[in-house]
Amino acid sequence: MNKKTWYGFLAIFVIAATVLSACGAPATEVPGKLGVGIVLPTKDEPRWIQDETRFRDALTAAGYDVEILFSQGDSAKEKANVEDLITKGVKVIILTPHDGAAAAAAAEAARAAGVKVISYDRLIRDTAAVDYYVTFDSVAVGEAQAQYLVDHASGSGNALYLYAGAASDNNAFLFFEGAWNVLQPKIADGTFEIKNSSEAVALQDKATLTRDEMGQILGQVTTNWDFNTAKSLAESNLTAASAADKGNVFILAPNDGTARAIADAFGADNDVSSYVVTGQDAEIASVQYIIDGKQSMTVLKDVRTLVGDAIAAAVAFLEGNTPQQTHTYNNGAIDVPAKPSAVVSVDQSNVVAAVIDSGYWPASEFTGVDQIGAAPVMPEVSFAYAPGGALEAAIKGEYTGTTVTVDGAFEGNDPDGVKFGESMKAFEEATGITVNYVGNKEFEGSIAIRVDAGDAPDIVDFPQPGLFASFVRSGDVVPVDFISDEWLSQQYNAGWREFNTVDGVEAGVMHRYSGKSLVWYPKKAWDAAGYQVPETWDDLVALTQQIADDGDTAWCIGIESGAATGWVATDWTEDMMLRTTSLENYDAWVAGDLAFDSPEVKHAVETWSNVWFNDAYVNGGRSSIVSTFFGDAPGAMFGDPPQCWLHRQANFITSFFPEGTVYGVDYDFFYLPPVDSAYGKPFLVAGDLIAMFNDRPEVRALMEYFTTPQSASGWLEGGGAISAHQTATQDMYGSDLDWGVSQLVAGATSFRFDGSDLMPGEVGAGSFWEHISSYVAGSEDLDTALKAIDTSWPK
Ligand code: BGC
Repeated sequence: MNKKTWYGFLAIFVIAATVLSACGAPATEVPGKLGVGIVLPTKDEPRWIQDETRFRDALTAAGYDVEILFSQGDSAKEKANVEDLITKGVKVIILTPHDGAAAAAAAEAARAAGVKVISYDRLIRDTAAVDYYVTFDSVAVGEAQAQYLVDHASGSGNALYLYAGAASDNNAFLFFEGAWNVLQPKIADGTFEIKNSSEAVALQDKATLTRDEMGQILGQVTTNWDFNTAKSLAESNLTAASAADKGNVFILAPNDGTARAIADAFGADNDVSSYVVTGQDAEIASVQYIIDGKQSMTVLKDVRTLVGDAIAAAVAFLEGNTPQQTHTYNNGAIDVPAKPSAVVSVDQSNVVAAVIDSGYWPASEFTGVDQIGAAPVMPEVSFAYAPGGALEAAIKGEYTGTTVTVDGAFEGNDPDGVKFGESMKAFEEATGITVNYVGNKEFEGSIAIRVDAGDAPDIVDFPQPGLFASFVRSGDVVPVDFISDEWLSQQYNAGWREFNTVDGVEAGVMHRYSGKSLVWYPKKAWDAAGYQVPETWDDLVALTQQIADDGDTAWCIGIESGAATGWVATDWTEDMMLRTTSLENYDAWVAGDLAFDSPEVKHAVETWSNVWFNDAYVNGGRSSIVSTFFGDAPGAMFGDPPQCWLHRQANFITSFFPEGTVYGVDYDFFYLPPVDSAYGKPFLVAGDLIAMFNDRPEVRALMEYFTTPQSASGWLEGGGAISAHQTATQDMYGSDLDWGVSQLVAGATSFRFDGSDLMPGEVGAGSFWEHISSYVAGSEDLDTALKAIDTSWPK
């Protein structure tokens, strides 16, 4: 409340009190009866309890007792109340109608008895029997609410949800009219999109609405001034809306009680990242919501002013005078004289001055007043982040309370889901932003459907760079150019960044991976035998021969894997492609541009075949390979003496090793060495990269977080994947093994993703597995197998 209004109120009150005491009732004596009765609509809404209290305060201070009756939302009871007061001999009735039109009968009964009727706050409609209207400027209330929404929206397409009061209350129309005055131009220019009223959408090009037109909209968005109705309406609107219709939303809520109910419903919806919601009445509970950041604003209608105006008008009538008039309001029958009062828009920035310092409500009613506007206390941040970006702003608390949705191929409560949740904790604690993971096992099929329906999640965790690339090409992914090149090159080596770069656009960030180019060996026996870690493929073949000379078979190999039998051989082929030909040829092969039947692919397969097909080199001989389950194959390494000494597999294989075997004691690993030094030290990996689909600051903040190793901390600590970030340090890893793999990868000269995972499903998860298995089994020769795979490539 501003000073002017305050003094204005004081002046009126002093006049009223003076007039009242001139009637002969000293303030110190037992209150006498005033010839005025008051009828209020319901005790169920704090607003009317407020009016009752303020009437009693004012009249008791002036030395009067007054009869205040409540109608409890029932027009018949309201009429009975009026008749009761008439019988008791009052000369003036101050009436707030429950239903403006239905109250006409009560007003007419008063008029017939010679009693003056003051319509209080709500207009009694369709009758000439109304003498005066004491009111706030209700159109201004709606305008203040709408202006707040406009002032807090930027850009276009902001989701707008409209709610209104009861159609039986004339004010509901005035509030809506005021709101429409301000919102309609902003709907017309695209700033807002109405999401919950087809009637409002149908009328959205009309600058001014008739009462009937407003009635049509109210028919869809009325709360009836009831909290429960408001809540269930909001919930059903949210159920009907797609995620794309949520995000950052703007809500016209007509008053405080309904605002709290609606805010609670929107706050509980995971697809709502933030909301701005209006209100009116400065109810204590809503002032607390504003302090707590759960309701955005309220319109303060200083009830003390209204009470003062009503008393002054009543006294004027009692004295045979005419109350002050500045306006008239047409009630459908006559123009009712009135003097509307100004209203004040209140949010966190002025709530203390307007509501507490002004004396409207005592500070003792509220908690957290000292914290208003203060940046939320953020815990010390446990990770390094890019300066000057969205994450820094988020850590300062700018996006607290928002939500970012992440989709991916694992489910929230499976082991990866749990690790993901743990990885997000530091971010959530530091920023107050909620990360909502929604992934599921149908991800590869469902993600395209979501994106096509305009319902893209904010961020996607892609295990397949191929799938990611298709979304980049269709323009659905937001490039990461908001993260500085300097920061990215500090966090990743150049090889990783190539995975995210599609047609020259860096459109994602690499997150975590498992390394595939690894060879495991039984350390104890190995050390005792004096074998050395080979540096080249020739050394490895020489070691294989040495082991054969020592009377053992060197390799443990099994490619049985149910429907996926053969994938181990495709992995070997990929590793050998990387070691025997250029990266360009590898990429061309994966893309279908270099045939399986080419000399390059043939050579790669033959390189490993020379070892696999030598019965002196493989535990169980070539014939056992196709029938040995891949997870069982390495078990033979742990015999005493070992039945085999070398096993090539990704780092997840340790979970298939016999119980109780210990890394660094029972087993160790080395990098599958280069075949031809011209191709450097390539590494075959499989892993996940992260892409952004919706560009909001809090989403950017989470993308920036994904560039830090802490964003993979759940996996680093719990095992199962390696951080793609070169800033990950040994102490972040729960095991030396994962750290050791990461160091091998860090020393690599290039990376390539598992080729079969990138190929079309018919090939990568079909013909490649099948024909390579037939070749290993000896039922197809290599030329036949490779040609058959080529034939299966989709045209
Ligand atoms: C009043 C508001 C109140 C609403 C619900 C309106 O007529 O002007 O202050 O919140 O009724 O009771």
